[in-house]
Amino acid sequence: MRIETHTALTTAPGALPLIGHSVSLLRDPLRFLNSLTGYSDLVRIRIGPLKPVLVCDPELSHQVFADDRTFDKGGPLYDRARDIMGNSLLTCPHNQHRRFRRLLQPAFTPQNYPRYASAMAHEVGRLVDSWSEGQAITVLDEMTTLAARCLTGTLFTDNTLSPEAQADLISDVKHILAGAYVRTVIPPQLARLALLSDHRYQQARKRLDATAAHIVRSYRARDAGSGDLLSIIMSIQDNPTLSEGNAQHLSNDELAKVILNFLLAGTETLANAPAWSLYLLARSPQASKRLHDEVDHVLPNGQAAGYDDQTRLPFTARVITEAMRLYPPVWITSRRTTTDTHLGRHSIPQGTIVLLSPYLIHHRPDIYPNPESFDPDRWENQQPHKPPRNAFAAFGSGARKCIGDTFSMTESTIAVATICARWHIEPLPDQNIRVTAQAVLQPKNFQARLTRRRA
Ligand code: HEM
Repeated sequence: MRIETHTALTTAPGALPLIGHSVSLLRDPLRFLNSLTGYSDLVRIRIGPLKPVLVCDPELSHQVFADDRTFDKGGPLYDRARDIMGNSLLTCPHNQHRRFRRLLQPAFTPQNYPRYASAMAHEVGRLVDSWSEGQAITVLDEMTTLAARCLTGTLFTDNTLSPEAQADLISDVKHILAGAYVRTVIPPQLARLALLSDHRYQQARKRLDATAAHIVRSYRARDAGSGDLLSIIMSIQDNPTLSEGNAQHLSNDELAKVILNFLLAGTETLANAPAWSLYLLARSPQASKRLHDEVDHVLPNGQAAGYDDQTRLPFTARVITEAMRLYPPVWITSRRTTTDTHLGRHSIPQGTIVLLSPYLIHHRPDIYPNPESFDPDRWENQQPHKPPRNAFAAFGSGARKCIGDTFSMTESTIAVATICARWHIEPLPDQNIRVTAQAVLQPKNFQARLTRRRA
């Protein structure tokens, strides 16, 4: 006979009447999460009337990621994301996901990366060439522009957009994402009201929708694809054997939503990985010296790194991985249970919101000794205490794992290596650099002076 023991869930301390933990989640969410690393498996928190369960254990977190049928996309983060970008690969429920993923995955297979990497190297080269000796830069702004250009430069390369339309598109993406997190921790009615009364937001949404629709229409009107991401996706659509007939076809509207999904899911996340890496390197002379030694050896003339250089830049890759451990761009995500279920020793009823936090898991001292220290060598293959695979969740895991994971590592490696081969990044003195937890984790106010290392 099997005896089931179920344990009642503890509520995190500090809940205020009516609003619960909303203030802690708005004011200093990372501090709040750090205060919960002592909980072994699950803890209940309160956001106004909502009572989500936060997963603190890496194995349980992996279980939730892996069982996307029981723990489907839902909860405040995805409810808001659907308001913003509609139903597509990132936001769709489990029963629609397989179709989207099968139609889009071929654009992210290894044979495409050399082409994407050369578009990325072109954009990184353009950026580092535009900088001048002694110039002060806001690192995150530069990395956001770079991320948006790398995304648009790999998604649609055929001069579909004028330079002005590209600039509008980047600023619309930034505006739509700004404030997205705040709207997830305030009551839904207020969040909708805030969106409806934000004129600039409405304008950005309209223009972005129109731009995505324009891109799809102009790609449909062309004869042959040019090997960019969108034309690969479209060629799969047009090949009945690959797309299994018209039932699998993505409509023009669905394709436009795919573009929105990639731009909105990819821009800020992609900007923050190299921005955090540069920030951490600037604070660690030892790691910085090792990185410079590596890039000077691989890129002796300060040329932009290419696809094949990646295997010769192992320390650079470890720096980026460690930056994403310390500051995972997606620091929290959510699910909703579709049926009564169990998680560890707890029974979880249908309709429960489950929160997963890569940040919390990455800061557990029992998995990552001395979790606040920047130690790229944690990821050294020979390292006897290398963290278990399930304990690194920067890209999620399971069927809903980030489709852009390799894309992002490629871009970040090319960006960090090329920038550091060419320029010294010296933080400006007396800055109040803040970790800002918005839709993604950002190094706000990180400004640096550039000194040329090579022409
Ligand atoms: C460093 C950069 C990035 C990070 C840290 C990141 C992180 C993540 C995470 C954690 C998820 C899973 C979310 C969940 O399970 O709730 C995810 C999903 C996703 N990401 Fe990324 N992402 C990055 C870059 C990108 C890029 C560049 C793109 C587009 C090319 C992209 C497109 C997507 C999409 C479409 C999904 C949904 C996948 C699915 O449900 O099948 N991401 N990302």
